[in-house]
Amino acid sequence: MATKIERLAVDGGEPVRATPLETGYPGARLIGDEERELVLEVLDKRAPFRFYGVNEPDKVTALEREAAHMMGTAYALGVTSGTAALKVGLKALDIAPGDEVIVPALTFIASPGTVAAHQAIPVFADVNESLTLDPHDIENRITSRTRAIMPVHTSGVAAEMDTIMEIARRHDLRVIEDCAQSAGTAYKHKAIGAWGDVGAFSLQVNKIVTAGEGGIVTTSDPVMFERAVRYHDHGNYRFGRMTIETSAPDDTMGDLTAYPPGQLDAFPGEVYRMGELAGALALAQVRKLPGIIDRMRQAHNAIAAQIQGLPGVTPRHLPDPDGVAGVSLGLLTDDPAHTGPFVKALRAEGIPARHVYGGKPVYTIESLQNYRPAAGTLTQHYAPGLCPRTEAIMARAVNIAIAPGYDEADCADVAQALWKVATQALV
Ligand SMILES: Cc1ncc(COP(=O)(O)O)c(C=O)c1O
Repeated sequence: MATKIERLAVDGGEPVRATPLETGYPGARLIGDEERELVLEVLDKRAPFRFYGVNEPDKVTALEREAAHMMGTAYALGVTSGTAALKVGLKALDIAPGDEVIVPALTFIASPGTVAAHQAIPVFADVNESLTLDPHDIENRITSRTRAIMPVHTSGVAAEMDTIMEIARRHDLRVIEDCAQSAGTAYKHKAIGAWGDVGAFSLQVNKIVTAGEGGIVTTSDPVMFERAVRYHDHGNYRFGRMTIETSAPDDTMGDLTAYPPGQLDAFPGEVYRMGELAGALALAQVRKLPGIIDRMRQAHNAIAAQIQGLPGVTPRHLPDPDGVAGVSLGLLTDDPAHTGPFVKALRAEGIPARHVYGGKPVYTIESLQNYRPAAGTLTQHYAPGLCPRTEAIMARAVNIAIAPGYDEADCADVAQALWKVATQALV
Protein backbone atom coordinates (compact mmCIF):
# COMPACT_ATOMS: atom_id res chain seq x y z
CA MET A 1 0.00 0.00 0.00
CA ALA A 2 1.41 3.40 -0.95
CA THR A 3 1.64 5.86 1.95
CA LYS A 4 2.48 9.49 2.01
CA ILE A 5 4.24 10.83 5.08
CA GLU A 6 1.63 12.43 7.30
CA ARG A 7 2.17 13.75 10.79
CA LEU A 8 1.05 11.23 13.36
CA ALA A 9 -2.02 12.19 15.39
CA VAL A 10 -0.04 11.46 18.55
CA ASP A 11 2.29 14.28 17.47
CA GLY A 12 -0.57 16.68 16.73
CA GLY A 13 -1.36 15.59 13.16
CA GLU A 14 -4.79 14.85 11.71
CA PRO A 15 -6.08 11.45 12.93
CA VAL A 16 -7.08 8.85 10.32
CA ARG A 17 -10.48 8.64 12.05
CA ALA A 18 -12.32 11.83 12.88
CA THR A 19 -14.44 9.69 15.23
CA PRO A 20 -12.77 6.66 16.80
CA LEU A 21 -13.89 3.25 15.54
CA GLU A 22 -16.39 1.44 17.71
CA THR A 23 -14.79 -1.21 19.86
CA GLY A 24 -15.94 -4.27 21.76
CA TYR A 25 -19.42 -5.60 22.57
CA PRO A 26 -19.98 -7.42 19.24
CA GLY A 27 -23.17 -9.20 20.30
CA ALA A 28 -24.50 -6.41 22.51
CA ARG A 29 -24.34 -3.95 19.60
CA LEU A 30 -26.78 -6.15 17.70
CA ILE A 31 -29.40 -6.56 20.43
CA GLY A 32 -32.70 -5.82 18.72
CA ASP A 33 -36.18 -7.08 17.98
CA GLU A 34 -35.28 -10.77 18.18
CA GLU A 35 -33.96 -10.42 21.74
CA ARG A 36 -36.88 -8.19 22.76
CA GLU A 37 -39.43 -10.69 21.47
CA LEU A 38 -37.96 -13.67 23.33
CA VAL A 39 -37.45 -11.75 26.59
CA LEU A 40 -41.03 -10.47 26.44
CA GLU A 41 -42.27 -14.02 25.95
CA VAL A 42 -40.68 -14.92 29.29
CA LEU A 43 -42.35 -11.96 30.98
CA ASP A 44 -45.70 -12.60 29.31
CA LYS A 45 -45.57 -16.23 30.46
CA ARG A 46 -44.48 -15.18 33.94
CA ALA A 47 -42.00 -18.05 33.80
CA PRO A 48 -38.55 -16.70 34.71
CA PHE A 49 -37.20 -19.95 36.27
CA ARG A 50 -35.85 -22.59 33.93
CA PHE A 51 -37.27 -25.73 35.49
CA TYR A 52 -40.88 -24.87 36.25
CA GLY A 53 -43.26 -21.98 36.91
CA VAL A 54 -46.66 -20.45 36.38
CA ASN A 55 -46.36 -21.60 32.77
CA GLU A 56 -43.98 -23.96 31.06
CA PRO A 57 -40.51 -22.41 30.63
CA ASP A 58 -38.63 -23.19 27.42
CA LYS A 59 -35.85 -20.67 26.75
CA VAL A 60 -32.83 -22.18 28.53
CA THR A 61 -33.79 -25.61 27.21
CA ALA A 62 -33.99 -24.21 23.66
CA LEU A 63 -30.67 -22.42 24.13
CA GLU A 64 -29.02 -25.65 25.24
CA ARG A 65 -30.45 -27.57 22.31
CA GLU A 66 -29.40 -24.96 19.74
CA ALA A 67 -25.97 -24.28 21.28
CA ALA A 68 -25.16 -28.00 21.38
CA HIS A 69 -26.25 -28.34 17.76
CA MET A 70 -24.16 -25.34 16.70
CA MET A 71 -21.03 -26.44 18.56
CA GLY A 72 -21.43 -30.06 17.49
CA THR A 73 -21.66 -31.56 20.99
CA ALA A 74 -24.26 -33.92 22.39
CA TYR A 75 -25.11 -31.64 25.33
CA ALA A 76 -24.95 -28.03 26.47
CA LEU A 77 -25.82 -26.55 29.85
CA GLY A 78 -26.73 -22.91 30.50
CA VAL A 79 -25.04 -21.42 33.57
CA THR A 80 -24.65 -17.99 35.16
CA SER A 81 -21.25 -16.91 33.75
CA GLY A 82 -18.17 -18.04 31.88
CA THR A 83 -16.44 -18.40 35.22
CA ALA A 84 -19.31 -20.63 36.39
CA ALA A 85 -18.93 -22.64 33.17
CA LEU A 86 -15.25 -23.24 33.98
CA LYS A 87 -16.03 -24.12 37.59
CA VAL A 88 -18.84 -26.49 36.60
CA GLY A 89 -16.64 -27.86 33.81
CA LEU A 90 -13.80 -28.65 36.23
CA LYS A 91 -16.31 -30.49 38.40
CA ALA A 92 -17.58 -32.33 35.32
CA LEU A 93 -14.02 -33.60 34.86
CA ASP A 94 -14.00 -34.65 38.53
CA ILE A 95 -11.02 -32.41 39.33
CA ALA A 96 -10.30 -32.62 43.05
CA PRO A 97 -8.34 -30.43 45.50
CA GLY A 98 -4.60 -30.77 44.88
CA ASP A 99 -4.98 -31.94 41.27
CA GLU A 100 -2.85 -30.01 38.80
CA VAL A 101 -4.39 -28.36 35.74
CA ILE A 102 -2.12 -26.96 33.02
CA VAL A 103 -3.17 -23.43 32.02
CA PRO A 104 -1.53 -21.04 29.53
CA ALA A 105 0.36 -18.12 31.08
CA LEU A 106 -1.51 -15.71 28.80
CA THR A 107 -5.20 -15.61 29.69
CA PHE A 108 -7.81 -13.84 31.78
CA ILE A 109 -7.66 -14.47 35.54
CA ALA A 110 -10.79 -16.66 35.42
CA SER A 111 -8.94 -19.56 33.76
CA PRO A 112 -6.42 -20.23 36.55
CA GLY A 113 -8.71 -18.52 39.10
CA THR A 114 -11.39 -21.19 38.81
CA VAL A 115 -8.77 -23.92 39.17
CA ALA A 116 -7.55 -22.27 42.37
CA ALA A 117 -11.11 -21.64 43.59
CA HIS A 118 -11.58 -25.39 43.18
CA GLN A 119 -8.59 -25.88 45.54
CA ALA A 120 -6.73 -27.40 42.60
CA ILE A 121 -3.34 -26.21 41.35
CA PRO A 122 -2.92 -24.09 38.20
CA VAL A 123 0.36 -25.05 36.53
CA PHE A 124 1.41 -22.54 33.91
CA ALA A 125 2.76 -23.34 30.47
CA ASP A 126 3.97 -21.06 27.69
CA VAL A 127 1.99 -19.74 24.76
CA ASN A 128 3.44 -19.48 21.27
CA GLU A 129 3.05 -16.66 18.74
CA SER A 130 -0.61 -17.60 18.25
CA LEU A 131 -1.11 -16.33 21.85
CA THR A 132 -2.54 -19.75 22.69
CA LEU A 133 -1.10 -22.70 24.60
CA ASP A 134 2.15 -23.93 23.06
CA PRO A 135 1.70 -27.70 22.62
CA HIS A 136 5.49 -28.08 22.80
CA ASP A 137 5.58 -26.82 26.39
CA ILE A 138 2.78 -29.02 27.77
CA GLU A 139 4.84 -32.13 28.42
CA ASN A 140 7.48 -30.06 30.28
CA ARG A 141 4.79 -29.16 32.80
CA ILE A 142 3.21 -32.60 33.37
CA THR A 143 3.79 -34.18 36.80
CA SER A 144 2.33 -37.22 38.56
CA ARG A 145 -0.47 -34.96 39.84
CA THR A 146 -1.51 -33.49 36.49
CA ARG A 147 -5.14 -34.29 35.77
CA ALA A 148 -6.21 -31.88 33.03
CA ILE A 149 -5.21 -29.30 30.45
CA MET A 150 -7.13 -26.05 29.97
CA PRO A 151 -6.31 -24.55 26.56
CA VAL A 152 -7.68 -21.03 26.14
CA HIS A 153 -8.89 -19.85 22.74
CA THR A 154 -7.91 -16.20 23.03
CA SER A 155 -9.66 -13.36 21.19
CA GLY A 156 -11.11 -15.46 18.40
CA VAL A 157 -8.13 -17.72 17.67
CA ALA A 158 -8.27 -21.43 18.48
CA ALA A 159 -5.48 -23.26 20.22
CA GLU A 160 -3.87 -26.16 18.34
CA MET A 161 -6.44 -28.65 19.54
CA ASP A 162 -5.42 -31.70 17.49
CA THR A 163 -1.93 -31.75 19.00
CA ILE A 164 -3.20 -30.84 22.46
CA MET A 165 -5.75 -33.68 22.39
CA GLU A 166 -3.12 -36.14 21.20
CA ILE A 167 -0.82 -35.18 24.13
CA ALA A 168 -3.73 -35.32 26.58
CA ARG A 169 -4.82 -38.78 25.46
CA ARG A 170 -1.24 -40.08 25.56
CA HIS A 171 -0.95 -38.98 29.21
CA ASP A 172 -4.53 -39.88 30.17
CA LEU A 173 -5.42 -36.24 30.92
CA ARG A 174 -8.81 -34.58 30.54
CA VAL A 175 -9.22 -31.36 28.51
CA ILE A 176 -11.43 -28.37 29.36
CA GLU A 177 -11.46 -25.71 26.64
CA ASP A 178 -11.82 -22.11 27.80
CA CYS A 179 -13.93 -20.75 24.92
CA ALA A 180 -15.02 -17.57 26.75
CA GLN A 181 -13.52 -15.12 24.25
CA SER A 182 -14.09 -17.11 21.10
CA ALA A 183 -17.63 -18.44 20.56
CA GLY A 184 -18.03 -19.38 16.89
CA THR A 185 -14.31 -20.01 16.34
CA ALA A 186 -13.37 -23.26 14.60
CA TYR A 187 -10.17 -25.26 14.35
CA LYS A 188 -9.75 -27.52 11.34
CA HIS A 189 -13.49 -27.36 10.56
CA LYS A 190 -14.57 -28.38 14.06
CA ALA A 191 -16.05 -25.82 16.46
CA ILE A 192 -14.16 -25.06 19.64
CA GLY A 193 -15.94 -26.52 22.64
CA ALA A 194 -16.29 -29.83 20.76
CA TRP A 195 -12.59 -30.77 20.76
CA GLY A 196 -12.03 -31.31 24.47
CA ASP A 197 -13.95 -33.31 27.04
CA VAL A 198 -15.69 -30.10 28.13
CA GLY A 199 -16.02 -26.57 26.70
CA ALA A 200 -16.77 -23.41 28.70
CA PHE A 201 -18.31 -20.35 27.01
CA SER A 202 -19.03 -16.87 28.40
CA LEU A 203 -22.03 -14.69 27.58
CA GLN A 204 -20.74 -11.68 29.52
CA VAL A 205 -21.42 -8.32 27.90
CA ASN A 206 -18.06 -7.97 26.16
CA LYS A 207 -18.15 -11.38 24.54
CA ILE A 208 -19.00 -12.30 20.94
CA VAL A 209 -22.59 -13.08 21.95
CA THR A 210 -24.07 -11.99 25.24
CA ALA A 211 -26.82 -12.27 27.79
CA GLY A 212 -25.23 -9.56 29.93
CA GLU A 213 -24.00 -12.33 32.17
CA GLY A 214 -24.14 -16.02 31.41
CA GLY A 215 -22.23 -19.06 30.29
CA ILE A 216 -22.58 -22.40 28.55
CA VAL A 217 -20.89 -25.73 29.27
CA THR A 218 -20.59 -28.14 26.34
CA THR A 219 -19.73 -31.83 26.37
CA SER A 220 -20.58 -35.03 24.55
CA ASP A 221 -20.01 -37.27 27.56
CA PRO A 222 -23.27 -38.14 29.39
CA VAL A 223 -21.56 -38.72 32.74
CA MET A 224 -19.62 -35.46 32.57
CA PHE A 225 -22.86 -33.74 31.60
CA GLU A 226 -24.68 -35.23 34.56
CA ARG A 227 -21.87 -34.21 36.93
CA ALA A 228 -22.04 -30.67 35.52
CA VAL A 229 -25.81 -30.57 35.91
CA ARG A 230 -25.71 -31.86 39.48
CA TYR A 231 -22.96 -29.47 40.53
CA HIS A 232 -24.82 -26.45 39.08
CA ASP A 233 -28.12 -27.35 40.77
CA HIS A 234 -27.66 -28.41 44.42
CA GLY A 235 -26.60 -31.90 43.40
CA ASN A 236 -29.93 -32.52 41.62
CA TYR A 237 -30.48 -34.12 38.27
CA ARG A 238 -33.96 -33.01 37.24
CA PHE A 239 -33.62 -34.06 33.63
CA GLY A 240 -35.68 -37.05 32.72
CA ARG A 241 -37.53 -36.35 36.01
CA MET A 242 -35.36 -38.97 37.63
CA THR A 243 -34.36 -37.80 41.04
CA ILE A 244 -36.13 -34.80 42.44
CA GLU A 245 -39.47 -33.94 43.89
CA THR A 246 -40.49 -30.34 43.22
CA SER A 247 -43.46 -28.28 44.27
CA ALA A 248 -44.21 -27.61 40.61
CA PRO A 249 -47.34 -28.97 38.99
CA ASP A 250 -46.22 -31.63 36.53
CA ASP A 251 -47.60 -29.85 33.48
CA THR A 252 -45.24 -26.87 33.91
CA MET A 253 -42.04 -28.89 33.97
CA GLY A 254 -41.29 -28.75 30.25
CA ASP A 255 -39.74 -31.52 28.23
CA LEU A 256 -36.70 -32.55 30.18
CA THR A 257 -36.60 -36.05 28.81
CA ALA A 258 -34.31 -35.20 25.90
CA TYR A 259 -31.37 -35.37 28.30
CA PRO A 260 -29.43 -38.53 29.19
CA PRO A 261 -30.79 -40.70 32.01
CA GLY A 262 -29.08 -40.22 35.36
CA GLN A 263 -26.28 -42.64 36.25
CA LEU A 264 -24.58 -41.02 39.26
CA ASP A 265 -25.39 -40.80 42.93
CA ALA A 266 -26.30 -37.31 44.13
CA PHE A 267 -23.51 -35.21 45.64
CA PRO A 268 -23.52 -31.74 47.19
CA GLY A 269 -23.43 -28.92 44.66
CA GLU A 270 -23.88 -25.20 44.33
CA VAL A 271 -26.27 -23.10 42.22
CA TYR A 272 -25.14 -21.79 38.85
CA ARG A 273 -28.51 -22.20 37.06
CA MET A 274 -29.28 -19.90 34.17
CA GLY A 275 -32.59 -18.04 34.42
CA GLU A 276 -35.10 -17.76 31.59
CA LEU A 277 -34.52 -14.03 30.99
CA ALA A 278 -30.81 -14.61 30.39
CA GLY A 279 -31.73 -17.73 28.42
CA ALA A 280 -34.04 -15.73 26.14
CA LEU A 281 -31.39 -13.11 25.45
CA ALA A 282 -28.74 -15.77 24.93
CA LEU A 283 -30.98 -17.76 22.58
CA ALA A 284 -31.56 -14.77 20.31
CA GLN A 285 -27.83 -13.99 20.36
CA VAL A 286 -26.67 -17.54 19.65
CA ARG A 287 -28.97 -17.52 16.62
CA LYS A 288 -27.07 -14.44 15.44
CA LEU A 289 -23.64 -15.97 16.06
CA PRO A 290 -22.96 -17.30 12.53
CA GLY A 291 -23.83 -13.89 11.04
CA ILE A 292 -21.66 -12.03 13.56
CA ILE A 293 -18.71 -14.32 12.83
CA ASP A 294 -19.16 -13.91 9.06
CA ARG A 295 -19.03 -10.14 9.35
CA MET A 296 -16.07 -9.97 11.75
CA ARG A 297 -14.10 -12.62 9.85
CA GLN A 298 -14.61 -10.69 6.61
CA ALA A 299 -13.41 -7.47 8.23
CA HIS A 300 -10.44 -9.27 9.81
CA ASN A 301 -9.39 -10.76 6.48
CA ALA A 302 -9.89 -7.48 4.63
CA ILE A 303 -7.60 -5.65 7.05
CA ALA A 304 -5.05 -8.48 7.08
CA ALA A 305 -4.89 -8.44 3.27
CA GLN A 306 -4.14 -4.71 3.27
CA ILE A 307 -1.29 -4.84 5.77
CA GLN A 308 0.88 -7.51 4.21
CA GLY A 309 4.51 -6.42 4.40
CA LEU A 310 3.88 -3.88 7.17
CA PRO A 311 7.30 -3.00 8.60
CA GLY A 312 8.23 -3.51 12.25
CA VAL A 313 5.45 -6.01 13.10
CA THR A 314 4.71 -9.68 12.54
CA PRO A 315 1.10 -10.87 12.32
CA ARG A 316 -0.05 -13.07 15.18
CA HIS A 317 0.33 -16.70 14.09
CA LEU A 318 -3.05 -18.22 13.16
CA PRO A 319 -2.99 -22.03 13.54
CA ASP A 320 -6.12 -22.19 11.35
CA PRO A 321 -6.69 -18.90 9.48
CA ASP A 322 -10.05 -20.10 8.10
CA GLY A 323 -11.48 -20.71 11.56
CA VAL A 324 -10.79 -17.38 13.26
CA ALA A 325 -13.74 -15.48 14.74
CA GLY A 326 -12.23 -12.19 13.56
CA VAL A 327 -13.04 -10.42 16.83
CA SER A 328 -9.57 -8.92 16.83
CA LEU A 329 -6.49 -8.53 14.68
CA GLY A 330 -3.31 -9.64 16.43
CA LEU A 331 0.15 -8.21 15.79
CA LEU A 332 3.56 -8.67 17.41
CA THR A 333 5.99 -5.78 17.30
CA ASP A 334 9.50 -6.79 16.31
CA ASP A 335 10.92 -4.78 19.22
CA PRO A 336 9.22 -4.81 22.65
CA ALA A 337 10.34 -1.22 23.24
CA HIS A 338 8.04 -0.19 20.38
CA THR A 339 4.86 -1.80 21.72
CA GLY A 340 3.74 1.01 24.03
CA PRO A 341 4.40 3.84 21.56
CA PHE A 342 2.80 1.80 18.74
CA VAL A 343 -0.42 1.29 20.72
CA LYS A 344 -0.51 4.92 21.82
CA ALA A 345 0.00 6.17 18.28
CA LEU A 346 -2.73 3.89 16.90
CA ARG A 347 -5.19 4.98 19.56
CA ALA A 348 -4.49 8.61 18.71
CA GLU A 349 -5.47 7.75 15.12
CA GLY A 350 -8.84 6.44 16.41
CA ILE A 351 -7.95 2.74 16.17
CA PRO A 352 -8.91 0.49 19.15
CA ALA A 353 -5.46 -1.02 19.77
CA ARG A 354 -4.39 -2.53 23.10
CA HIS A 355 -1.26 -4.05 24.53
CA VAL A 356 -2.53 -7.59 25.30
CA TYR A 357 -3.14 -7.83 29.08
CA GLY A 358 -0.75 -4.90 29.51
CA GLY A 359 2.08 -7.30 28.65
CA LYS A 360 1.72 -9.17 31.96
CA PRO A 361 1.30 -12.93 32.25
CA VAL A 362 -1.64 -14.00 34.36
CA TYR A 363 0.50 -15.49 37.15
CA THR A 364 1.68 -11.98 38.08
CA ILE A 365 -1.86 -11.10 39.23
CA GLU A 366 -1.99 -10.52 42.98
CA SER A 367 -4.81 -12.94 43.74
CA LEU A 368 -2.78 -15.83 42.35
CA GLN A 369 0.38 -14.68 44.04
CA ASN A 370 -1.54 -14.87 47.31
CA TYR A 371 -2.95 -18.36 46.63
CA ARG A 372 -1.96 -20.70 49.46
CA PRO A 373 -3.16 -24.24 48.78
CA ALA A 374 -2.32 -27.16 51.08
CA ALA A 375 1.34 -27.26 52.06
CA GLY A 376 3.59 -28.86 49.48
CA THR A 377 1.06 -28.85 46.64
CA LEU A 378 2.28 -25.73 44.84
CA THR A 379 5.05 -26.84 42.51
CA GLN A 380 5.56 -23.57 40.65
CA HIS A 381 6.60 -20.18 42.00
CA TYR A 382 4.18 -17.67 40.48
CA ALA A 383 6.72 -14.98 39.69
CA PRO A 384 8.25 -13.32 36.63
CA GLY A 385 10.52 -15.77 34.82
CA LEU A 386 8.10 -18.70 35.20
CA CYS A 387 7.16 -18.73 31.48
CA PRO A 388 9.91 -16.71 29.80
CA ARG A 389 8.72 -17.30 26.27
CA THR A 390 5.26 -15.99 27.12
CA GLU A 391 6.76 -12.97 28.83
CA ALA A 392 8.83 -12.18 25.71
CA ILE A 393 5.80 -12.63 23.40
CA MET A 394 3.48 -10.58 25.61
CA ALA A 395 5.96 -7.71 25.63
CA ARG A 396 5.28 -7.51 21.87
CA ALA A 397 1.58 -8.45 21.60
CA VAL A 398 -1.00 -5.96 20.32
CA ASN A 399 -4.69 -6.56 19.62
CA ILE A 400 -6.94 -4.38 17.52
CA ALA A 401 -10.61 -4.99 18.27
CA ILE A 402 -12.95 -5.60 15.35
CA ALA A 403 -16.71 -5.08 15.56
CA PRO A 404 -19.32 -6.75 13.33
CA GLY A 405 -20.39 -3.35 11.99
CA TYR A 406 -17.08 -2.53 10.25
CA ASP A 407 -17.62 -1.73 6.59
CA GLU A 408 -15.01 -1.53 3.82
CA ALA A 409 -14.15 2.07 4.67
CA ASP A 410 -13.61 1.19 8.36
CA CYS A 411 -11.29 -1.65 7.39
CA ALA A 412 -9.39 0.64 5.03
CA ASP A 413 -9.02 3.17 7.86
CA VAL A 414 -7.51 0.53 10.16
CA ALA A 415 -5.07 -0.50 7.44
CA GLN A 416 -4.23 3.11 6.61
CA ALA A 417 -3.56 3.93 10.27
CA LEU A 418 -1.38 0.85 10.63
CA TRP A 419 0.74 1.85 7.62
CA LYS A 420 0.90 5.44 8.79
CA VAL A 421 2.03 4.50 12.29
CA ALA A 422 4.25 1.53 11.38
CA THR A 423 6.20 3.36 8.70
CA GLN A 424 6.93 6.25 11.06
CA ALA A 425 6.98 4.81 14.59
CA LEU A 426 8.42 1.33 13.98
CA VAL A 427 11.24 1.85 11.47
C1 LIG B 1 -10.44 -16.39 28.86
C2 LIG B 1 -11.62 -16.10 29.74
N1 LIG B 1 -12.07 -17.08 30.56
C3 LIG B 1 -13.14 -16.90 31.36
C4 LIG B 1 -13.80 -15.68 31.40
C5 LIG B 1 -14.90 -15.52 32.39
O1 LIG B 1 -16.12 -15.21 31.83
P1 LIG B 1 -17.24 -14.42 32.69
O2 LIG B 1 -16.81 -12.99 32.72
O3 LIG B 1 -18.50 -14.65 31.94
O4 LIG B 1 -17.26 -15.03 34.05
C6 LIG B 1 -13.40 -14.65 30.56
C7 LIG B 1 -14.15 -13.37 30.56
O5 LIG B 1 -13.71 -12.31 30.54
C8 LIG B 1 -12.27 -14.85 29.73
O6 LIG B 1 -11.81 -13.87 28.94
